[in-house]
Amino acid sequence: MSVTVRVPAKVNVQLAVGAARPDGFHDLANVFLAVGLHDEVTVTPADELRVTCAGPDAGQVPLDRTNLAARAALALAQRHGLAGPEAAVHIHIAKDIPVAGGMAGGSADGAGALLACDTLWGTRASREELLDICAELGSDVPFSLVGGAALGTGRGERLRTLDVGGTFHWVFAMAGRGLSTPAVFREFDRLAQGLDVPEPVASQELLDALAKGDPDALAAAVSNDLQPAALSLFPELADTLAAGRAAGALAALVSGSGPTTAFLAREAESAAEVAGALRASDTCRTVRTASGPVPGATVVTPGAATVPTGL
Ligand code: C5P
Repeated sequence: MSVTVRVPAKVNVQLAVGAARPDGFHDLANVFLAVGLHDEVTVTPADELRVTCAGPDAGQVPLDRTNLAARAALALAQRHGLAGPEAAVHIHIAKDIPVAGGMAGGSADGAGALLACDTLWGTRASREELLDICAELGSDVPFSLVGGAALGTGRGERLRTLDVGGTFHWVFAMAGRGLSTPAVFREFDRLAQGLDVPEPVASQELLDALAKGDPDALAAAVSNDLQPAALSLFPELADTLAAGRAAGALAALVSGSGPTTAFLAREAESAAEVAGALRASDTCRTVRTASGPVPGATVVTPGAATVPTGL
């Protein structure tokens, strides 16, 4: 028997970053929107814990125990006292979310493996327990489980679900190389030296724009405090942002810690136009369109009841 879970990517429509905390993390006001680019995580009983990965960027995915999917399986097994063959599982990741792209691809695989193992092993962890394990695995992992739209506070792991009154159409431009999230936060700290970094707060205009489903209002309110740091480490991203703006995108921003860039369009047709212009611009590696919000981690094993999660 195998269990397959489908997990979405995210874009941060607001990423407000506070000063570095004593533990090295940063307090955030992080408004996540799940979008329709997905990884699929399949777990199958095996002789030992093993991770494989397929997809365009599969070669860049670590297959050892640093992989968040492997760590999720180990964390669930440990909490439920499963050991040896009981907890041995082959985790296969069919990867479509860009690797090291700022779209929570690794977090998606962690949340997906957790839900898949919980289903395969019948551990029936409560929602709170799953969210706790996700928060231990990484700041963005709880959102990958929950999906939709949410405001993350603390280091991003404490979630409040947000109402969204419509579908937003996006274009994503993937860069020729990745950016490391810790490196981008370190660059944020370097650029903030000597400055007074305000407490991160969610923008009311942005939350209202989401609730109304109004792309023009959302475009006026999006922001990413990590963008200057990402551009400092990867200056060519400015050319991609400019190409998307010139093609008529309502807003252009770096997604999370980057280097994927995100472009908001008014509807699907204009998203396709922006995508075409970006492809022709020669400023990025690949271009995808996706809309959101979409549900979080969902069991999609053929024959199994579809189980969307949500908070
Ligand atoms: O939580 P996660 O492991 O995904 O974070 C990766 C890295 O990003 C952390 O090690 C830290 O350098 C940085 N980070 C941060 N503040 C946050 C979230 C992440 O500094 N709120």
